[in-house]
Amino acid sequence: MRFALFCLLFAAAIPGAGAQEHGHGPADLNAAQTEGRRLYQQSCGVCHTRPTITAPLFGPRLSRLAVAGPQEAEAKIRIAKGSPNMPGFQYLYTPAQIDSVVEFLKLLPPAGGEGTPK
Ligand code: HEC
Repeated sequence: MRFALFCLLFAAAIPGAGAQEHGHGPADLNAAQTEGRRLYQQSCGVCHTRPTITAPLFGPRLSRLAVAGPQEAEAKIRIAKGSPNMPGFQYLYTPAQIDSVVEFLKLLPPAGGEGTPK
């Protein structure tokens, strides 16, 4: 009897663990990408995503090209340290969070498609 109860609890725990591992974002984004999208919308979109077609864009439009190959490491340093025109995020975000934002940037198509994937 007690063993049966144990089995029931054990079986119930598995789907719960699986659901957590996959986060609660859309199915096509993994946990890091979902976290990165949240952080990007919170801290980067204001300068890097054009709100309307005629609005000026303060920073360059970001896409996977900005973090391709050797630029990935440079981009992480830029995001951490900032520049005269861009705030640094090293005290706001952990290195893992900055990695997540970069994982999200890798999803953005180069110029042509505007906005961020929903
Ligand atoms: C206050 C506006 C502002 C915010 C907020 C901002 N940036 Fe920037 N970013 C800039 C500007 C402006 C540049 C252009 C280079 C320069 O002048 O420093 C830039 C450049 C970059 C570059 C280099 C792009 C390239 O191709 O050279 C990356 C990568 C980048 N930003 C990522 C981010 C990320 C990720 C965030 C959020 C965590 C962020 N930025 C938040 C303004 C901003």
